[in-house]
Amino acid sequence: MLTKKILLGVTGSIAAYKAAELIRLLRKDGYFVQVIMTKSAKEFITPLTLQALSGNPVLENMWGPDEGNGMEHINLSRTADLILIAPASANFIAKIANGLADDLLTNLCLARKCPLLVAPAMNIEMFSNSSTQRNLATIKKDGVHVSGPDHGDQACGDFGMGRLINYESLMLDIKRSTSGLLFKGKKILISTGATVEKIDDARAITNLSSGFMGLCLANAAYEFGADVTVIKGVSSHSIPSCIKSIDARNHNEMHEAITSNVRGADIYISVAAISDYKPISNDGKIKKSNSKITLNLMPTQDILGSIGRENGNTFLVGFAAESSNLISNAKKKLKSKNLDIVIGNLISQSMGKSSAEIIIVDNEGEKILPEAPKPELSKIILRHIHKTFSKEKSYEPIS
Ligand SMILES: Cc1cc2nc3c(=O)[nH]c(=O)nc-3n(C[C@H](O)[C@H](O)[C@H](O)COP(=O)(O)O)c2cc1C
Repeated sequence: MLTKKILLGVTGSIAAYKAAELIRLLRKDGYFVQVIMTKSAKEFITPLTLQALSGNPVLENMWGPDEGNGMEHINLSRTADLILIAPASANFIAKIANGLADDLLTNLCLARKCPLLVAPAMNIEMFSNSSTQRNLATIKKDGVHVSGPDHGDQACGDFGMGRLINYESLMLDIKRSTSGLLFKGKKILISTGATVEKIDDARAITNLSSGFMGLCLANAAYEFGADVTVIKGVSSHSIPSCIKSIDARNHNEMHEAITSNVRGADIYISVAAISDYKPISNDGKIKKSNSKITLNLMPTQDILGSIGRENGNTFLVGFAAESSNLISNAKKKLKSKNLDIVIGNLISQSMGKSSAEIIIVDNEGEKILPEAPKPELSKIILRHIHKTFSKEKSYEPIS
């Protein structure tokens, strides 16, 4: 993989200290990071800290002889994959909304050839002020990507919108800004996690699905530019705040959430392990005794199957978790549920694990993928979906 180069602009926000951890995360992911600070940013964190973490001298002055050939205000962005401003002060956003260029960082933004991603960080009143809102609307209209802000406790003691977005979502937005947007403008719905069905008021049955594969697919789909909605069952993995997520803990809630969202989706990926049977409910709590008890289970409606039968135009991807005969069962599922793709995996090799070995089955045949971490597999699966979807739906691929 070629190293991607990020120009990280740090401005005069109290969140400037968070740039230190951000640089560490970027370098861990293999990015080359060149930091540019505004004069105010240096009041909050020293250039030495950011130099040490990024491995490169921090730039600020466009007039100094120590900065390249004296044309750094133009040159730097020519070789960059992204300019990222994190944190971005209200003042800085106002400047770029109006095309001002009175220091190195504003000049770089104005003279750029690469995408610009801005992560605002400020007090709630500064953020909700109509001039800041107007400036944010202007930069978005100009094609600048905006990440966040988050809602929560603020350094000044207030509570509300304005915090720098969390690292997890910011890293996803950075990847989205530097990746090929395979699914730009496409809506992808993903259901993931386990469901829990009540036996009585205190007990329930569930399954061993962790929801990790769905999370990885959601992250990868977001990175590839899709408008992603996740319907999340029971899972210890949280969905990054930049991705829309709807909670659905049991079969009924899954059914309602999926059917009301699938019509508007271009692609539906069903990874959730939704209960096939649920207990005939008992009021109160079954009393403990020494005799055996029998649980009566009734079958639930096959949500993906009925969507496949009635389906209009949504491209459908199902998962088949099997204990044996993987290929034949996956092929059977493809036909019987009228799906476009089935991803098959053996329960023993994938359920609850961070890696898996899978097969991809579609109308053209099957492809076996050797064991790999789920984040890696998710990208391969999405590229395959993109190829088949583009062919079937005459969608112009961007790859
Ligand atoms: C203690 C302190 C904290 C500040 N925090 C923020 C902040 O979080 N966000 C913001 O937009 N401005 C904040 N400001 C105001 C900016 O530092 C100020 O507008 C400055 O001119 C921004 O310069 P720059 O955009 O060139 O970096 C703060 C100022 C002070 C004194």
